[in-house]
Amino acid sequence: MTVSQTAQNYSALIINSSDCDAISSKLPLTLVSSGSAAKTALMDSKRRFAGIFIDPVMPYPGGVELIGLAHRYRPVTPVYVLYRKNKPFTEAELDRMGVHGQLQTPISAPIIQKRIASQIFDYWFDLPAFPQITESSEEDRLYTAVLSSDLLTGSASLYDIHVRLPSGRYFKILNARDTLSPERVLGYIQKGVGFFYFKKADHELCLSYCDNLAKFLISHHEVSFELRASALYNQGQKLINGIHTEGLTAEHIDFAVLYVGQIRSFITRMDIDNLDEMRTFLAHLSLYDRSVSTAMIAGLLALPLKVESESAFRAIGLAALLHDIGMLNLPEDRYFEHPAIGARMLADVPGIDAVSIQAIEQHHERRDNTGFPGRVNGSNVNRIAELIGLSDEFINLLEAAGKNPALNPLAEMERKVFAGFSFPVIEAFRTVFMQKPTKTSSKAL
Ligand SMILES: [Fe+2]
Repeated sequence: MTVSQTAQNYSALIINSSDCDAISSKLPLTLVSSGSAAKTALMDSKRRFAGIFIDPVMPYPGGVELIGLAHRYRPVTPVYVLYRKNKPFTEAELDRMGVHGQLQTPISAPIIQKRIASQIFDYWFDLPAFPQITESSEEDRLYTAVLSSDLLTGSASLYDIHVRLPSGRYFKILNARDTLSPERVLGYIQKGVGFFYFKKADHELCLSYCDNLAKFLISHHEVSFELRASALYNQGQKLINGIHTEGLTAEHIDFAVLYVGQIRSFITRMDIDNLDEMRTFLAHLSLYDRSVSTAMIAGLLALPLKVESESAFRAIGLAALLHDIGMLNLPEDRYFEHPAIGARMLADVPGIDAVSIQAIEQHHERRDNTGFPGRVNGSNVNRIAELIGLSDEFINLLEAAGKNPALNPLAEMERKVFAGFSFPVIEAFRTVFMQKPTKTSSKAL
């Protein structure tokens, strides 16, 4: 490893979904504005980061998942969480996730700089992209190597840090939670110590904390709506990613995530604090989780139907997200009443069109009259209700296929489900999920 002064190859990675204050400074920054761009940057072995600043309400991958990715690919780089109004995590949660702190946005270069020792920016390290270590002993297999210069940030280490002696033995030079001074790290580097080591088992423990916390967050009612929703989008997108069909493209997935994000921000702007039922529903995760997936699929089905107007797209998304609101606190024996109850709940909510309310009321009606409550002649079912109904049926089959690999959801749609729907809606489904990929319109709101 060679070290020369006056150039740098480290930057601070800022992962922020929206308005990070325009930062003009000499501090090298890498700014990304989407979860997928963040993931790409974290996995890019040619880039080095001095610190990672994460907005945990990013769309997919978002929430705690991004923190987990940062730990996976950049195990000794300090991670900070960004937030707007309220701190998203308690101190104990930060500690368990290996997060170094949480910073209120907008953040500025001096705030970032304060957390990263400038030594990391002052030198050019002629380094391999990611360490390639040849394991030659049983003990080697227990350790992970990291570039020595990654510890120049002056931040506390999450792990015990070791050096590998010429004899092949590992020697601990730092306890977890302590900090190696940048000067000391530089001293090691100048003596030719290219790598430090920490135990793989410690790394796994930190990663599993993050995974567990992600699960905890989406069932924990105290965390913000934004953060919980972000975790739910991950689940919705996982469902879509898990659909292995010929037609679905990466553009489709991007569209579905963008679409649900736009509907979500519309609902947020509706000032739901004054709408008790809606707020409770959105907090009721087992229903809302399902609704995010329904809205993603209904939005995709609307593409080939040439839905043009913003208001029509919004009506579909709102109805899809809220279609099961009537199930809130409903005893099981009254399940068949939930479409009508949901429609009544939302009837007077400003911002929700009559067509969406009607769709909620009819989302279990079927053209072959096999649905419920059976108040509408099959041929008169609202088109949005059909989109929601077909999406719901598809999700049922995808979930069933998860438990029974012999089940082919697309074949089952043809065999059992399509009879209940109109030809244009069936054709839309076939176009999205059953055809060879063609150029997708990326129309959004
Ligand atoms: Fe329903």
